[in-house]
Amino acid sequence: MILSIESSCDDSSIAVTRVSDAKLLFHKKISQEVDHSKYGGVVPELAARLHAVALPNILEECKEYFPSLKAVAVTNEPGLSVTLVEGVCMAKALSISLDIPLLPINHLKGHIYSLFIDKPKTVFPLLVLLVSGGHTQLLQVDSYDSIEVIATTLDDSFGESFDKVAKMMGLGYPGGPIVEEYAKDGDENRFDFTVPLLRTPKLAFSYSGLKNQVRLVIEENPNDKQDICASFQRVATKHLVHKLKKVLQSKSFDDFAIVGGASANQYLRGEIQKLCSKYSMNLHVADLRFCSDNAAMIGRCAVDAFGLSKFASLDDIRVNPRTSF
Ligand code: KG4
Ligand code: ZN
Repeated sequence: MILSIESSCDDSSIAVTRVSDAKLLFHKKISQEVDHSKYGGVVPELAARLHAVALPNILEECKEYFPSLKAVAVTNEPGLSVTLVEGVCMAKALSISLDIPLLPINHLKGHIYSLFIDKPKTVFPLLVLLVSGGHTQLLQVDSYDSIEVIATTLDDSFGESFDKVAKMMGLGYPGGPIVEEYAKDGDENRFDFTVPLLRTPKLAFSYSGLKNQVRLVIEENPNDKQDICASFQRVATKHLVHKLKKVLQSKSFDDFAIVGGASANQYLRGEIQKLCSKYSMNLHVADLRFCSDNAAMIGRCAVDAFGLSKFASLDDIRVNPRTSF
């Protein structure tokens, strides 16, 4: 069994995963959303202090697995440096005291593996749209070690743009689920926002311009929150679909996946499902409880890392806040 720790942002989470069949045996996550909501976003030092309390409390609950552990996995990149350190320190301590090796895991790779929690087999090659608070990336994933970035964001990420739109309207944090909820009762065609990067063939994403368009509309129509959310969500999603079509016109894939916190968005899932039907691709999504940050996805990724002997020594494991693929 592998014990996995996730603390890259504001979720403290630990999982225990069986190596032989990738079965998730234990999983617990303590979210700090309420603690950060009054600041309108994550405060790194506060998050680190809360991890220092929550992680040992969760660890206490999975002591029964300690004698069976063959490795300890931990998210070491990318994320907030002060919060990553909390998980890495705990992983090092467990590695020394239980005399088991360390597996450093890339958080973004963890999101990809959220698709395979409780499943012994992975599905590669896979075209993956990663939509989280920190990233918007289109990735061609051929194996654990072969991940090619096809497109990435030039500025804000998809999830971040939802957070900022919610903040501008004073709706709370995190903005994604709130904006989606408001959008359900809104008219998505009320405001005709321009789709970003529509006229350039560049394979990239951009959300800062759309955010500014939304800001101007909020200033003029402060009471039309539902219509603004619905119109914003429609155009934010249309931008993704437009760039995806560009890629699919020149390259075909059998399997497509959306991962990351924002992949929980039902409107996005619906639009991507239409695209997959048009291009005859199977759509893979993670269970809703594993879309946002969690240690179960780190554990599933660690099962493959274990098989490939991706161990790191105590001195070699490094916290890399800004690593990408
Ligand atoms: O993957 P994640 O939990 O953390 C990062 O690794 O960044 O993603 C969090 C992001 C936040 O920006 C949040 O607003 C967004 O995912 N999100 C959503 C939805 N649920 C979460 N965005 C749009 N619609 C949602 N339903
Ligand atoms: Zn994440």
